[in-house]
Amino acid sequence: MEEKHLLLLFISLSLLAGAAMAKSTIEPCTGTDACPALLGYTLYADLKVAEVAALFQIDPVALLAANAIDIAVPDAENHILPAGLFLRVPASCSCSGGIRRSISTSYTVRPADTLGSIAGSVYAGLTSPDQIREANDIPDPADLDAGSTLVIPLPCSCFNSTDNFLPAIYLSYVVQQGDSVSAIAARYATTVTDIMTVNAMGSPSIRPGDILAVPLPACASMFPNSASDYGMVVANGTYAITASHCVQCSCGPGNLNLYCTPASLAVSCSSMQCSNSNLMLGNFTSQQTSAGCSVTSCNYGGFVNGSIVTRLTTSLQPQCPGKHQFPPVIAPPTTVLHDSFLAPSPSPAQAGGTVTNPRSSVPGTFGLPGVSPSSGPAGSISEASIVSPFCSCASMFPNSASDYGMVVANGTYAITASHCVQCSCGPGNLNLYCTPASLAVSCSSMQCSNSNLMLGNFTSQQTSAGCSVTSCNYGGFVNGSIVTRLTTSLQPQCPGKHQFPPVIAPPTTVLHDSFLAPSPSPAQAGGTVTNPRSSVPGTFGLPGVSPSSGPAGSISEASIVSPFCCILCLFAFSLVHFNFLY
Ligand SMILES: *[C@@H]1O[C@H](CO)[C@@H](O)[C@H](O)[C@H]1NC(C)=O
Ligand SMILES: *[C@@H]1O[C@H](CO)[C@@H](O)[C@H](O)[C@H]1NC(C)=O
Ligand SMILES: *[C@@H]1O[C@H](CO)[C@@H](O)[C@H](O)[C@H]1NC(C)=O
Ligand SMILES: *[C@@H]1O[C@H](CO)[C@@H](O)[C@H](O)[C@H]1NC(C)=O
Ligand SMILES: *[C@@H]1O[C@H](CO)[C@@H](O)[C@H](O)[C@H]1NC(C)=O
Ligand SMILES: *[C@@H]1O[C@H](CO)[C@@H](O)[C@H](O)[C@H]1NC(C)=O
Ligand SMILES: *[C@@H]1O[C@H](CO)[C@@H](O)[C@H](O)[C@H]1NC(C)=O
Repeated sequence: MEEKHLLLLFISLSLLAGAAMAKSTIEPCTGTDACPALLGYTLYADLKVAEVAALFQIDPVALLAANAIDIAVPDAENHILPAGLFLRVPASCSCSGGIRRSISTSYTVRPADTLGSIAGSVYAGLTSPDQIREANDIPDPADLDAGSTLVIPLPCSCFNSTDNFLPAIYLSYVVQQGDSVSAIAARYATTVTDIMTVNAMGSPSIRPGDILAVPLPACASMFPNSASDYGMVVANGTYAITASHCVQCSCGPGNLNLYCTPASLAVSCSSMQCSNSNLMLGNFTSQQTSAGCSVTSCNYGGFVNGSIVTRLTTSLQPQCPGKHQFPPVIAPPTTVLHDSFLAPSPSPAQAGGTVTNPRSSVPGTFGLPGVSPSSGPAGSISEASIVSPFCSCASMFPNSASDYGMVVANGTYAITASHCVQCSCGPGNLNLYCTPASLAVSCSSMQCSNSNLMLGNFTSQQTSAGCSVTSCNYGGFVNGSIVTRLTTSLQPQCPGKHQFPPVIAPPTTVLHDSFLAPSPSPAQAGGTVTNPRSSVPGTFGLPGVSPSSGPAGSISEASIVSPFCCILCLFAFSLVHFNFLY
């Protein structure tokens, strides 16, 4: 009776390639991998930074970094934040029972707490009294023992850390009085359609207390999965701390390449200098050449086995980069700005102005998967990364490239650079792999400068720290020229020969159990089906891709297949409403 809980379920079958794919707030998942998410939390009282962090069992420094609050101010953890302030709380979203559903934190009951006040005030509507009752098997909600510990389930979603093939981190947002979907979309630089799609909403109508998953543009990392900070995603305009407080990474404002530098915290760290170079993490040098600007940078490659992995990368870019611009940091807020999006609406102010620290932070349970956060903004920074959207390989070409935004579905090929380059995706991993195409066309050089490697070639050498792999990669088709990038990285293991997705001869019959033949389309007369047309590029909406594809030679097959993994596209669409009576 304290709460209405309305769950709408729709089941939909969709096999339309290229159609917008509805996500549901019920997100299927497999395994036990956690992924990064954000909770939108409005302070119900004046609370210290460390107290807010303790409510969610996260590192206070990670909380500051995720809100671009300056961690360099003295005693930042004990700074008192004002009631009504809206914060993004970094959280690790786990998979349980096949559903990406929750973060659970724990809370120590204080005298006078009720399930309603804990859910509605302390956790600002991110949970409900019924959910707490269920999670803790409480027979009589009127009978709460002060001092006892409750498990608090909280919502989260990741959707593979992508939205429309771009890196994203999902914010669980509690709808406030006066909110509209269009205002929320405007505030978070997304669209009404996108919010409706993500939340599988039939109409843009919301009520206070509803919880929406809001995709925020973000920078993705490309750390190997042996890294403890594997999967790190940082929202645009914010920071994250990793590598035992040694490295800070930021995202934006100018581009969505993750940029990491040594963190400015007083901790002892292993070397952050790239080997065979005098560059430190985040440093780069550039030199104008006739072909463009040759940029050498020292990048962060993840925290592997307690060591900071550095990668020295040289790439040819159309223009020489200027000094890196960092997202602005703010001083710890002391007042709530009423028109600021940091303060949606002051929540019911509670009695007592202060709250005792329920428990001091237990880092590790939360935060970005395996990120042991801490720290911050400061100094200057930067770096790059790649996205693996749903079962497809994404490119990272500059937006001056005519094939900017190219995405290739797992198991397929694409042809680019005026038929000179072919790129494939899978089967072993979702890293785009490009080589010279075997078509008889005349092409500019596909050899990496200062090297005898051709596109797609790599050399590797086992060292005590791992395997040093130097590869010649394709960097996009810029101004009619093939951009090559020579990259050296330290990997846990030396790669074997590259495996390509299998190619098939041009089909002449329809295989009935094949994914390419979703439902025996209105069977054509005759036993064979003519190839409708090999690829109609452009209509498939990869931003700016000038595809052109072509079966032929050893390879290639347009990526007509929907890049989404989901084969049976079975979605539960839901919209969960919570209402509280105080
Ligand atoms: C996320 O990716 C995994 C494989 O990488 C896939 O099995 C899963 O279906 C994807 N989830 C969504 C929501 O697309
Ligand atoms: C990232 O944030 C900056 C402002 O902080 C904004 O100008 C930029 O458009 C954002 N980028 C994206 C892709 O949303
Ligand atoms: C290299 O990075 C270090 C640490 O971030 C910084 O102090 C130094 O100024 C940078 N040097 C150059 C040349 O950018
Ligand atoms: C990490 O270190 C342990 C022990 O030192 C070693 O057995 C393991 O192979 C290392 N893993 C990686 C990925 O380097
Ligand atoms: C890519 O496709 C191959 C088969 O072609 C499959 O084994 C692999 O699991 C797929 N990868 C992902 C991440 O879906
Ligand atoms: C380098 O790439 C070219 C073109 O793909 C290929 O023919 C050659 O075998 C590769 N060489 C090595 C050493 O991998
Ligand atoms: C492309 O070439 C044109 C003319 O040659 C030049 O004006 C332009 O700056 C070039 N663009 C890039 C990104 O190199």
